[in-house]
Amino acid sequence: MTATFSYEVLKLADVVVSDVQCDYLKESFGNVRDGQTDMVALENSLEIVAEHIPPDTLVIIETTVAPGTTEQVAYPIMRKVFRKRGIQSDPLLAHSFERVMPGKEYVASIRDFWRVCSGINEEATRRVEKFLREVVNTEDYPLTVLDRPIESETAKIIENSFRATILAFLDEWSVFAERNGVDLIKVIEAIKVRPTHNNIIFPGPGIGGYCLPKDGGLGVWAYRHIHGFEDDIFKITPLAIDINDTRALHVAQLTRDAMRNMSRPLAAADILVLGASYREDVGDTRYSGSELVVRRLTEMGAELRAHDPYVQHWWEFEKQDEYPSPTHSLKRFFRNQDKLVALRIERDLKKALAGADAVIFAVRHQSYLDLDPDEVVETAGGPLAVIDCFGILDDERIKRYFELGCEVKGLGRGHVKRIKDEVREEKEKMLLKMGAR
Ligand SMILES: NC(=O)c1ccc[n+]([C@@H]2O[C@H](COP(=O)([O-])OP(=O)(O)OC[C@H]3O[C@@H](n4cnc5c(N)ncnc54)[C@H](O)[C@@H]3O)[C@@H](O)[C@H]2O)c1
Repeated sequence: MTATFSYEVLKLADVVVSDVQCDYLKESFGNVRDGQTDMVALENSLEIVAEHIPPDTLVIIETTVAPGTTEQVAYPIMRKVFRKRGIQSDPLLAHSFERVMPGKEYVASIRDFWRVCSGINEEATRRVEKFLREVVNTEDYPLTVLDRPIESETAKIIENSFRATILAFLDEWSVFAERNGVDLIKVIEAIKVRPTHNNIIFPGPGIGGYCLPKDGGLGVWAYRHIHGFEDDIFKITPLAIDINDTRALHVAQLTRDAMRNMSRPLAAADILVLGASYREDVGDTRYSGSELVVRRLTEMGAELRAHDPYVQHWWEFEKQDEYPSPTHSLKRFFRNQDKLVALRIERDLKKALAGADAVIFAVRHQSYLDLDPDEVVETAGGPLAVIDCFGILDDERIKRYFELGCEVKGLGRGHVKRIKDEVREEKEKMLLKMGAR
């Protein structure tokens, strides 16, 4: 494989695969409808590709795009350039979206995974099918060929909107569980036993990553701005994204309440967030729930620290005036954020914990699953507030934290109150016994 910055290589290509980003820029917080698709990079790259490729080169767009983009945006751009070059044939374009998953199985998630594709005409469809059969493992993971690119594009958007929705719908049940003594983690495990329901998943502190927060937005936007409809048919998809985009704020409330129960002010408290990435055992911090937790608690006056074994720089803070773009940091929705440029990821867990008033288990990284409560409390220098965002603590650990004088709260974990009462009763019984002696 050769990497190059020279567009001249395009002249040699039989097939060009483009995965240049197509963003969705949100203009307000918690309202995905107020936003727009930013496909400038994709449009520019397609123009460059069309300027250099031989006429019969196949161009496969793998980007997740607003449905309609391949035929109604990419095709006209490339055709215009072809005509300028005196090429009379039409560009051969196809769409086949990526289902890659960051993490240990990165390459396998590209090669050994089911693909969907579609070409703009018969020749493009034949070529994209041939290419995918040669490059990815379509023998074990059958390829689906759809009739039109808009169907492949829509498949990706629906697939991710479905995922965003099943995650969002548990947000209200998570609050229900907290207020009614229910452990949602155990409830979900009980439901998953039923094979028809085994894809139910606990949402954690918000749904990050590059894809789920934006993809539904691309679909809603395309309906109006590519296809020209004025009515409002979308209810569930935008609502799901808005719920997911704001779920992390509740973690700040739980932290506030746990601190209050320990009679400690949140203002100026040192709070450690364990995990900066959006999912377990990866270093990708894009739109992670942890970012919002840090932003909200900072706004409320706390001092934040962060630990993540997979992340070296949390650019969302270190470069918050430029990243992800000068105008689109989540910083703009919160007050008191300027000092967060100085936030550095601490890689040494012991150093991160020393002196912490609260610890927030935000991501299910392997190294957080077995942390011993006694060691955590000892390293912190005394009892602290413990917030479990992802069903990381089992009942034994929760009990031990209470025994050590900590306060525990968790997303969807209403049963902690029961464990707390048990520990208090045991303590009272012991004191009575000692008094009777
Ligand atoms: N990352 C994932 O887990 C994942 C999973 C499924 C689907 N996707 C989809 O795949 C697409 C790409 O995602 P990503 O995470 O790799 O994004 P990315 O932003 O990391 O990659 C896009 C790349 O395109 C490059 N680029 C921009 N303009 C260019 C030009 N004119 N010429 C050459 N290169 C140019 C950028 O520099 C960047 O490296 C998106 O549509 C995303 O939704 C990503």
